[in-house]
Amino acid sequence: MTIPNTEIELVTDALTDQLCDLLVLAVFDKRKLSPPAQKIDQACDGKLTSLIDQGELDGKKGATLLIPEISGIRAQRILLIGCGKQGKFGLTEYQEVCHKAISQSCRSNIKHVIVTLPELVSPDHDQGKDNPGVYLEQAVVAAYNALYRFDALKSDRSEKKNEAPQPARIGFSFDSALDPKSAQAALSRGIAIGRGVSLARELGNLPGNICNPTYLADQALALAKALPITTTILEEAEMEKLGMGALLSVSRGSRQPAKLIVMEYKGGGKSEQPVVLVGKGLTFDAGGISLKPAGAMDEMKFDMCGSASVFGTVQAIAEMKCPINLVGIIPSSENMPDGDANKPGDVVTSMSGKTIEILNTDAEGRLILCDALTYAAKFKPAVIIDIATLTGAVVVALGSHATGLLGNDEALVQDLLQAGQITRDRAWQLPLWEAYQDQLDSNFADMANIGGREAGTITAACFLSRYTGDYNWAHLDIAGTAWKKGKLKGATGRPVQLLSQYIITRAKPQT
Ligand code: BES
Ligand code: MN
Ligand code: ZN
Repeated sequence: MTIPNTEIELVTDALTDQLCDLLVLAVFDKRKLSPPAQKIDQACDGKLTSLIDQGELDGKKGATLLIPEISGIRAQRILLIGCGKQGKFGLTEYQEVCHKAISQSCRSNIKHVIVTLPELVSPDHDQGKDNPGVYLEQAVVAAYNALYRFDALKSDRSEKKNEAPQPARIGFSFDSALDPKSAQAALSRGIAIGRGVSLARELGNLPGNICNPTYLADQALALAKALPITTTILEEAEMEKLGMGALLSVSRGSRQPAKLIVMEYKGGGKSEQPVVLVGKGLTFDAGGISLKPAGAMDEMKFDMCGSASVFGTVQAIAEMKCPINLVGIIPSSENMPDGDANKPGDVVTSMSGKTIEILNTDAEGRLILCDALTYAAKFKPAVIIDIATLTGAVVVALGSHATGLLGNDEALVQDLLQAGQITRDRAWQLPLWEAYQDQLDSNFADMANIGGREAGTITAACFLSRYTGDYNWAHLDIAGTAWKKGKLKGATGRPVQLLSQYIITRAKPQT
């Protein structure tokens, strides 16, 4: 596992006294030094002002200027980073420049970096009021995202190092109006969430021939060794006894045995009902007999990113010792074409007793999730949230910026939207109206597993809604957000930040 092991800390002493290899300072458009940059400018006789006056940097968002030698301060070098117009500098821009600053710090001669960007946000800003230090937390998560590399499967270790130097130490300074205790708490949260995002990215990026259901089960057992988490693995024989005919019908076409992974973290009161996360863990989705076309089929190794986000969130919440009870449930299987695989027209019986006509074997996610959702009732959830790369239709509807969100409880939906808004790991609600349910009618079973061409994301959620009983339930369709395509192909670790933020807020005693 290649989670960055950079040391991340707070900087509280005067910037001019800081000994480091690189000091990152912000410049707004046009040629406007940020307050920390002004302080440094004074200490070095207006060197920064004269450089920007000469036109070296205007402050356009993302532009950078490395100043290799500078006298009057103890830092070896300065990186000026453009933040765009000050009036337009919001959370999205802030996260972008934090990411950029850390990426630019990855040079072999830079071991210790100090980043002053969190100073730009006052703690009473916007969302900060209810979440002191949330911006500091996000700078830390951005740092983890910038430092993350997938190099587990590159053979040349020396080359690995040269390609990806990482600073050993990163310090963040912050607005003096934020009290040190809140700052420290925000830093710790950022580290836990950053590590959780990295874990989700790593699991997502691993290929299907390594990251199969058994591998995921082993990961859950490993988490239980490192943290106060109890892991239980249900094998196919036990699933058989429970009557999980939908889940097992998918796994029948694969040589890899399915696993139902359960991770329990008990940070809350004994009788407190848990938050239950259910993550789709399809370690490779070939489509089954309804085989997918060859183009980009490799990306179906990412079909377990819902489960990866459950791993990341459970790890993060346990590492921060969050006072809440949390259960992560992961149904894991492959979906392959095979002589014993599901065939279009087959009818299977789910654990709930409801029968399903499988009209398309590629709509397998809902088949493994429905049994996991039925099983989840045993934990008497306060809320159930499932996370799944469920439909191509959500990519058509929302692209790669927003996760699709549907649910049967408006308060839960609003809380999740808000958590997405605060972290910029955003979701967007789609309707789950009764009228869509008819699309799942079947002539041969209680329901079909597909609802036709129209509103594919909604009918997929309609299908799941039939298995959530009276529980408050929400569904996150992350097919568009869980990984990037093209040159930057790779898992994003979404929506670990959204889920962690939701749980942190929920765990906070309401005042
Ligand atoms: N894992 C896919 C969803 C998916 C497709 C995610 C493309 C990202 C990109 C899922 O199992 C699936 O195949 N869904 C089908 C459902 C359809 C057959 C109703 C889809 O979206 O095409
Ligand atoms: Mn599929
Ligand atoms: Zn799938």
